[in-house]
Amino acid sequence: MRTLFTHIKELLQVRTAPISFVAGVEMDDLPTLKNAYLLIEDGRIADFGEMPNCPSELSVNEVIDATGKMILPTWCDSHTHIVYAGNREGEFVDRIKGKTYEEIANNGGGILNSTKKLQQTSEEDLYQQSKYRLEEVIQLGTGAIEIKSGYGLTVDAELKMLRVIKRLHDEYALPIKATFLAAHAIPTAYKTNKQAFLELMLKEVLPVVAEEKLANYIDVFCETGYFSVADMELVLGEAKKYGLLPKVHVNQFTAIGGVQSAVMNDALSVDHLELINDEDLKALQGSKTMPVALPSCSYFLSISYTPARKIMNAGLPLALASDYNPGSTPSGNMNFVVSTACIKMKMTPEEAINAATINGAYAMGLEKEVGSITVGKKANLILTKPIHSYASIPYAFGMNQIEEVYISGKKM
Ligand code: NIG
Ligand code: FE
Repeated sequence: MRTLFTHIKELLQVRTAPISFVAGVEMDDLPTLKNAYLLIEDGRIADFGEMPNCPSELSVNEVIDATGKMILPTWCDSHTHIVYAGNREGEFVDRIKGKTYEEIANNGGGILNSTKKLQQTSEEDLYQQSKYRLEEVIQLGTGAIEIKSGYGLTVDAELKMLRVIKRLHDEYALPIKATFLAAHAIPTAYKTNKQAFLELMLKEVLPVVAEEKLANYIDVFCETGYFSVADMELVLGEAKKYGLLPKVHVNQFTAIGGVQSAVMNDALSVDHLELINDEDLKALQGSKTMPVALPSCSYFLSISYTPARKIMNAGLPLALASDYNPGSTPSGNMNFVVSTACIKMKMTPEEAINAATINGAYAMGLEKEVGSITVGKKANLILTKPIHSYASIPYAFGMNQIEEVYISGKKM
């Protein structure tokens, strides 16, 4: 099957030579081709170039005229918790009325509220709820996604979450990476015995995760009041024995040294970073760890935004992800993430698009498959509506600039 897009107003994120990610000043460069064609063969990008060199329409099965429209790779959302049960709308209203996220969590709400709901939800029901969210974000342009466990907090419930992620992985064409979030919150039954809870996750869940290949990565919520750097190191050390690389939650509310420790443990990504100090930046320089910002979380909780300029000025790369979850970010809209990064974090459209495509792909080990317009990569594409320039995508915040989404060359 050969599909040819013709007369594309601008083809974005064109990378002839494959790259892993972009960092520092390079992030402000978004290579494009104007008046372009794009050829897809059997679900992969086969060729692209300028219209004067376009292959004959007779040689393909389908021709799509993209006059006035742009094409870019789909968003690569490297940090989500889309497998969850129910919602936390009650807590949302409580926060509007003045309670803080922390107060709510300390009163049995927060992550533990989602845990209770998840434990009471059947695997089939959890799958149905999650599949709905996945289909919703695909329509919003997400074409590769990472999904975490971490709302189970018992052996059975964590495995239930991870099996739902695996089922989504098996039934959907977009690349899905699974992360075992082994230490997200301390369940009530273990309130005074955190070590026993960690033991349970490491001795009873981790071996099954490895045996049944239920996860690609390991995660810990390294934060004051949740898990310390020492707790994180214990978990990462055990997971390493099973070949699971870390992708961790660090520096959301407090900076306690989690970044340095994660880098030393070969983390693929360090996520949140609403706070970041000079030691953190130094640790990241020269490492292979991708910093990941989650601006929708900052928006929803009214907390500070990850200092993107400071990170990029230090020569580092930055990825953008949604953090879609019921408590801190009940939205998986990557268009909003890109807009918010430009508006609140002062990223240029070029930087934000790089961060949400190729850098996001790297942050889930998918940089060879998705994240750029490169021959051989999956044809996971966004076809925009007619727009003036690609700055429209972040500029028209909250609006929908997407006409069609293609996954492996197939219209969704
Ligand atoms: O990434 N920070 C930890 N976990 C989630 C939020 C969890 C929740 O409130 O349900 C996050 O923001
Ligand atoms: Fe998260």
